[in-house]
Amino acid sequence: MLKISRRGVLPVLACLSDLPRALHSGSAMAQEQTQEKPEQKTKTDAPGTHFPADFTWGASTSSYQIEGAVEEDGRGKSIWDVYAHTPGMVKNGDTGDVACDHYHRWVEDVEWLARGGFNAYRFSTAWPRILPAGAGAIEPRGLDFYDRLVDGLITRGVTPWLCLYHWDLPQALQEQGGGWLNRDTADKFADYARIVAGRLGDRVKHWVMFNEANIHALFGYGMGGHAPGLKGLVNLIRASHHQNLAQGRALSALRAERADLRLGTVLNISPVRPSSDSEADHRAVERFDGFWNGAFLDPLFKGAYPEAVAAEFEPAVAAGDLKITRQPVDFFGLNYYAPAWVKEAPESLFGAWFGAAPPGMRFTAMGWPVDASGLNDVLNRLRDHYGNPEVYVTENGACYVDSIAPDGTVSDDERVTYFREHIAAARRAIADGVKLKGYFAWSLLDNFEWSEGYSRRFGLIYVDFASQKRTPKASFNFLAETVKRRG
Ligand code: FCB
Repeated sequence: MLKISRRGVLPVLACLSDLPRALHSGSAMAQEQTQEKPEQKTKTDAPGTHFPADFTWGASTSSYQIEGAVEEDGRGKSIWDVYAHTPGMVKNGDTGDVACDHYHRWVEDVEWLARGGFNAYRFSTAWPRILPAGAGAIEPRGLDFYDRLVDGLITRGVTPWLCLYHWDLPQALQEQGGGWLNRDTADKFADYARIVAGRLGDRVKHWVMFNEANIHALFGYGMGGHAPGLKGLVNLIRASHHQNLAQGRALSALRAERADLRLGTVLNISPVRPSSDSEADHRAVERFDGFWNGAFLDPLFKGAYPEAVAAEFEPAVAAGDLKITRQPVDFFGLNYYAPAWVKEAPESLFGAWFGAAPPGMRFTAMGWPVDASGLNDVLNRLRDHYGNPEVYVTENGACYVDSIAPDGTVSDDERVTYFREHIAAARRAIADGVKLKGYFAWSLLDNFEWSEGYSRRFGLIYVDFASQKRTPKASFNFLAETVKRRG
């Protein structure tokens, strides 16, 4: 069975022949390219051109990827517990049972945020910690944990950004009704949102409804490489639409709950580019963009599905749904990693899939291309086609192979280059009239990278998973300096 993990997703499904090139020579090419083509300096990149004083500088994490303590304080199981414990689903049989043990070590982790000078932290609450069965009985000890964390952050001068859902659906909801295949899950999500806001809304002012509903639907329900491991186009469509609906319901529920909350959501938006000049690949771009980007952006900002996919979504959409999905947001959270080069792929879920990236491209250890111009493409699209909302980059970062040197340091120079280039792109975006208000790095810590388990590191802080020792990498120091200088 071909396992779909996001690591190889790009080259694997796209073009099997490209896989060795992307995976084996990716980082070597990165160095070559970096040396050959030093980062272009424009006026706005010049040292001394600072980000605004009120710019938000943060780091992001998510509950299942860092917390561990899966059996503690009455937490119910999530779909990721079950999926990770199913043999063959996660590399090396890794699970989030312990992860970064953040549930017990959060004080130290908050301290690292403060030391880095970050003024914000985006974390997610685990729905099954708070409602172990997804609905009904509330587990106060779950809420207590986030209450302590929020107070700890505020005390250290770090603004909490709370994300309500980063893929760890209560397993009970998956078993009873099919999880996001079921429209009732949208109502349950709004109830859960109200409960969390009822407890923390006095101190947490920044609320993210969903993390990447698009990636969750695609890999969890369409391709089968993430929990809950379902497959098929109809599942993808239903999981997409029901999350859009849940998001709309939660946004209006929280707006009614308290007037002083800043409400938004987070999507992973990629610019989609054709792998070749063929007409077929250009058509593939439209399909891919429709399912990956448009099917989430348009219901939120325009109350419609994009033309390229609307007919397929129709059976899932009930009368009035698109009024619910369309909600004003106080900010939009953009997770940006890479552009997608796509090609026609008749055998794939919706006829289009990742193709080969152009020659000379650098790749991270995930096999994802490195191209900061894609960040500008996406931000300009939000400016030009979605009403120029306030935007925060809520995730941006890169996976490379890290190791601790004998002197105890971690020299992750390629990651530093990645951040430098993307922060320069962010600065350009502001000059281009994008209302970009903040930048969060992914991730504070090395963590459980979904179906890749602990084999892939994205952290600013190196985690030795055996001892749980944290070691800041060069990229942590680089970002700390950047924050201090304001860019
Ligand atoms: C994003 C996810 C995050 C992490 C990074 C690498 O799509 O939101 O949890 O896996 O990718």
